[in-house]
Amino acid sequence: MVRLEKINGKNVWDALKLSVRGDQRNFVASNEVSIIEAYTSITANGYAFPFCIYDDKQLVGFLMIGYDKDDYWDDAPAVATGNYNLWRLMIDTAYQGKRYGREAVKLALDFIRTFPCGNAEYCWLSYEPENHVASKLYSSFGFEETGDMDGEELIAVLKLEKGEKR
Ligand SMILES: CC(C)(COP(=O)(O)OP(=O)(O)OC[C@H]1O[C@@H](n2cnc3c(N)ncnc32)[C@H](O)[C@@H]1OP(=O)(O)O)[C@@H](O)C(=O)NCCC(=O)NCCS
Repeated sequence: MVRLEKINGKNVWDALKLSVRGDQRNFVASNEVSIIEAYTSITANGYAFPFCIYDDKQLVGFLMIGYDKDDYWDDAPAVATGNYNLWRLMIDTAYQGKRYGREAVKLALDFIRTFPCGNAEYCWLSYEPENHVASKLYSSFGFEETGDMDGEELIAVLKLEKGEKR
């Protein structure tokens, strides 16, 4: 069974060993960078939820969810304000093509739909224009490109149903 486990003092060391293919490195930051970004976000009034992706006891990937923006994100796209973000997703080279990416997106959306930071209209994400596997995967969940960019990446959004405000 595929499941998410929050990054903690124990699993973080294995998460840092995960990597993608050489030709995919431009598509996603290393997990080291993502975890540093989680820290700098959380310490500047932002939100970050980094998770390990497991199939039972086997670590297969990493994902990170964000919400809104932190105090230092000066050039955030408009959609970032008040919305959730599937910020990072990677499946280790050894485990790609086995449906783990699809399962992980499903679990990420389940988590977002618990509205851990309060209600939001959208989940947004972004990807490199040449990342056709990611764009096809996300569009199969209903993500639609907005025509806006986050740096060099295309932005796509999914409308969320309303949740309970906490
Ligand atoms: C994108 C990524 C997360 C997908 O995870 P995955 O576990 O390999 O993908 P899955 O096995 O769940 O497959 C998802 C879909 O992509 C397709 N797919 C996967 N790898 C593919 C490949 N190399 N070529 C073509 N299609 C591919 C699958 O056929 C499947 O489509 P379907 O459900 O319509 O059959 C993974 O390839 C990855 O980590 N890539 C590098 C980092 C990255 O690009 N992250 C996203 C940044 S926005």
